[in-house]
Amino acid sequence: MTSPELLSLIFFHLTLVFFVLDLANAQGLKVGFYQQTCPSAEAIIKNTTAQYISRAPSLAPALLRMHFHDCFVNGCDGSVLINSTKKNQAEKDAAPNTSLRGFQVIDAAKTAVEKKCPGVVSCADIVALVARDAVSMIKGTSWSVPTGRRDGRVSTAQNALKNLPSPFSNITQLKASFGSKGLSVKDLAVLSGGHTIGISHCFPAVTIRLYNFTGKGDTDPTIDPNYAAALKKI
Ligand code: HEM
Ligand SMILES: *[C@@H]1O[C@H](CO)[C@@H](O)[C@H](O)[C@H]1NC(C)=O
Ligand SMILES: *[C@@H]1O[C@H](CO)[C@@H](O)[C@H](O)[C@H]1NC(C)=O
Ligand SMILES: *[C@@H]1O[C@H](CO)[C@@H](O)[C@H](O)[C@H]1NC(C)=O
Ligand SMILES: *[C@@H]1O[C@H](CO)[C@@H](O)[C@H](O)[C@H]1NC(C)=O
Ligand SMILES: *[C@@H]1O[C@H](CO)[C@@H](O)[C@H](O)[C@H]1NC(C)=O
Repeated sequence: MTSPELLSLIFFHLTLVFFVLDLANAQGLKVGFYQQTCPSAEAIIKNTTAQYISRAPSLAPALLRMHFHDCFVNGCDGSVLINSTKKNQAEKDAAPNTSLRGFQVIDAAKTAVEKKCPGVVSCADIVALVARDAVSMIKGTSWSVPTGRRDGRVSTAQNALKNLPSPFSNITQLKASFGSKGLSVKDLAVLSGGHTIGISHCFPAVTIRLYNFTGKGDTDPTIDPNYAAALKKI
């Protein structure tokens, strides 16, 4: 399979999976939910996203990841956006927050939409729409986003830690994590294809498998040796 074909296969499945996730989590979502109440909402969001992505395309993977992190903790309810307070450590300040980026895009889109239709469009929908728009703007495929999500007010680092899969999880744990969200093993494989785009820091998840897999200075034997050598050069 050529990589453009693989990419569109992945994105095709992403479309389906996000759709299923939404159906499972909320009633009454539909494509064009704001058609009567704020007809220009989706165009304004796309326009704002374009202004950022044209200058910083690397924000597209960051925004896709933000959508995933939002949905896996309390459903797709925008709670990933909430800031910590003195009394509450929010999702974005949990350990797996490493390098969640692009909050400024969501903030700008929300501000632009509020100017046109105050108090109508949820932040949760904006996260979902911006992720789709950003990915399609870097020549990924596109998918339709049912809207009508409501925003949550609960955001805790504890919930993020409990719900987000760890980069150290084995396959049994990953299956359980996705299963607890109503996602199948196929969904897990397909959604992992989200990593077709974007970056990862070497430390700690990559370095441990390259340099100290069992604590004896060894490399994970399941990594293709040529690939492991190439990664070590990087
Ligand atoms: C299967 C469980 C998953 C695990 C354990 C996982 C873990 C990670 C880790 C450790 C990183 C690197 C973070 C960093 O070093 O900055 C990362 C990046 C990323 N993840 Fe995942 N992830 C998972 C699922 C997903 C899913 C379902 C999506 C979306 C469909 C996704 C989209 C991304 C993207 C796009 C990046 C790159 C972010 C950027 O370039 O800023 N991940 N993920
Ligand atoms: C986005 O909005 C700006 C300001 O309203 C406008 O000048 C521009 O043409 C729009 N761009 C797109 C791609 O719609
Ligand atoms: C979180 O804090 C940042 C920085 O002060 C601010 O720009 C952003 O609007 C805040 N977000 C929310 C959802 O309050
Ligand atoms: C991520 O969370 C840690 C606490 O676990 C915090 O110290 C750090 O500032 C957070 N990073 C971002 C970018 O929010
Ligand atoms: C996965 O990790 C769990 C928890 O550490 C462990 O109990 C289990 O045996 C592991 N399974 C596999 C297949 O490695
Ligand atoms: C490798 O792992 C072992 C066991 O966890 C640890 O004692 C050792 O310091 C590690 N080596 C390096 C170079 O990190």
